[in-house]
Amino acid sequence: MRTVRTIAEVRETLEPFRGSTLALVPTMGAFHEGHLALFEAARADADCVVASLFVNPAQFGERADLNGYPRDEQHDARLAQEAGVDLLFAPSRDEMYPPGYETWVDVERLGSALEGEHRPGHFRGVATVCLKLFNIVRPQLAYFGQKDAQQVAVIRRMARDLDLEVEVRVVPTVRDADGLALSSRNRRLSPEERERALALPRALATRDAARARELLRDLDVDYVEIADFDPCVLAAAVRVGDTRLIDNVILEGDDE
Ligand code: PAF
Repeated sequence: MRTVRTIAEVRETLEPFRGSTLALVPTMGAFHEGHLALFEAARADADCVVASLFVNPAQFGERADLNGYPRDEQHDARLAQEAGVDLLFAPSRDEMYPPGYETWVDVERLGSALEGEHRPGHFRGVATVCLKLFNIVRPQLAYFGQKDAQQVAVIRRMARDLDLEVEVRVVPTVRDADGLALSSRNRRLSPEERERALALPRALATRDAARARELLRDLDVDYVEIADFDPCVLAAAVRVGDTRLIDNVILEGDDE
């Protein structure tokens, strides 16, 4: 696996692969089994797998959240290599947003509900960085986790609206044995907070919004809503101590 930091290096490295199937897994690092499942799916489908590792400042509202986001590039690079990633793109902030940067993608309605309501500007940052990554890598396939169901809906809508030639593929949520969906934020939970956080998967497992709200009454809840994302999900966001967790379950089919 090669690690590169500039857009020019990505383009040069990928030139020989232009006739083959190229997959992109956009990430912000702090890899866990959820990311490994994305790499594995991409590896199974494509000739060349590119992972991006960029903690995108444009999708963070609070500076403390951005600064506190876990970063360990060496560890991530090792896991990516073991998972069969061919190219790791780890750009600097200035490489992605050079001085004078002022162009943004806003998926207006989908991006302003639920997560968007509680994290204004979040999906504008996500959509913009994903469009930039799609333009830089030019993959036929891009992989995202079902855990971020609204992110998937936003990226799909952007791809449709802007006529992008990328197919968005979704990988089921990976959970710990106790049911908690894997997230880079889980490592911030104390043992006591983690115990309380388990109310989230338990509530969603009811697949009933009213019952879920009841089961989450002791947590600080941002929302518990049925969202018509295709597939339809029961989605929730809660705060446990200083950690904000999101999760969802699919309400149709048997994808979970
Ligand atoms: O899901 C994430 O890790 C991020 O939102 C993404 C898609 C890498 C964009 O920064």
